[in-house]
Amino acid sequence: MKNKKILIAVSGSIAAYKSASLIRLLVIAGAEVKVLMTESAKEFISPLTLSTLSKNKVYSDLIDEDSWSNHVELGLWADAMIVAPATANTIARMANGLCENIVTAVYLSARCPVYIAPAMDLDMWEHPSTQENIKKLLSCGNQIIDPEVGELASGLHGKGRMAEPENIMAFLSEAFDKKKDLTGKKVLITAGPTHERIDPVRYIGNRSSGKMGMALAEECARRGAEVVLILGPSSLDTNTANIAIERVVTAEEMYASAQKHHHSSTLCIFSAAVADYKPQNPASRKIKKSEEAFQISLQRTPDIANELGTLKSEEQTHIGFALETEHEEENALSKLNRKNFDMIVLNSLNDEGAGFGHDTNKVRIYGTKHDVIDIKLKPKSELAGDIINTFVEFYVKS
Ligand code: C5P
Repeated sequence: MKNKKILIAVSGSIAAYKSASLIRLLVIAGAEVKVLMTESAKEFISPLTLSTLSKNKVYSDLIDEDSWSNHVELGLWADAMIVAPATANTIARMANGLCENIVTAVYLSARCPVYIAPAMDLDMWEHPSTQENIKKLLSCGNQIIDPEVGELASGLHGKGRMAEPENIMAFLSEAFDKKKDLTGKKVLITAGPTHERIDPVRYIGNRSSGKMGMALAEECARRGAEVVLILGPSSLDTNTANIAIERVVTAEEMYASAQKHHHSSTLCIFSAAVADYKPQNPASRKIKKSEEAFQISLQRTPDIANELGTLKSEEQTHIGFALETEHEEENALSKLNRKNFDMIVLNSLNDEGAGFGHDTNKVRIYGTKHDVIDIKLKPKSELAGDIINTFVEFYVKS
């Protein structure tokens, strides 16, 4: 954070008191801070407090005592702009390019990364308009520092509290320190289960949550990649910029989507638990139960990794996953070879806390260019870092 030039933009929310601590923490960390405020922010915290803490003049008008506050210059000056707190109103204005105040005018002029820390009541946060605006802001490359769950000024309890200043600092440090070693790379990730229709209400599926694939997508995007995440049925979502999620249901849909993006992706990660079989003749109406035993004929679904493995070029790296209950090493190595993977990540269902649904995982990585790597039980988000580090160390030509 040392010597970084940071713009803090404060909009009118009760959470504005937290921006005082945030500014203080940034200044202590060695950053140079300038503050922008909307008119209504002044109702919640005084410009004098923020100018004293930032040791700089506070900007709140586009016209400042007969002279023009140069929003373009401010936008170009900053290494990062942090909108904290960002109200639903300011978020809507930013998302729609309105620039009638200093905060939104500087935002439109800024070339630096922009971080947005929303603060609002839970229903305002969940409202489809706000969520639509957040998506728009993400699609422009901004980063959202998710609001936290807790007591809200309204007396309600839920998601909407602006992230605590310490957590914003941690987010920023990670963003500044993060290696951008995947910049310019396109990454394709399959994740989650697939559902294969038996009748309109039943399907064949599995217990995959998609969490490992999502963690990998977020890791790659934070390291500068453009990610396409092809996600089977899952309620997971992300606020990380540069991840395009394509939602699919069946193995065939996942394959069609993956085929579309394969040729332009330098790294392909097959973390989906694709159903291997689908009902041969799905019923168009709900199947009624009877006392008789009932059989469904199944047919194979496409093996996405296998099919795309035959198309892999010299410039491409394929990473696969294996979830085994027996003969783990033997099965993983045979898949590495058969599916033309460069690396395969083995998780065992015999390990406590590993595999489906958990937030943690414990794996062993086999590869064509390195010795076996054992990774102890840890959060999937950290494990994603280890997997990508292995890819960068052994498979990216420098
Ligand atoms: O053969 P198995 O399903 O165990 O292989 C696991 C690996 O193959 C995973 O990387 C998985 O995403 C991929 N796979 C696939 N399409 C399938 C089955 C598996 O891409 N139909």
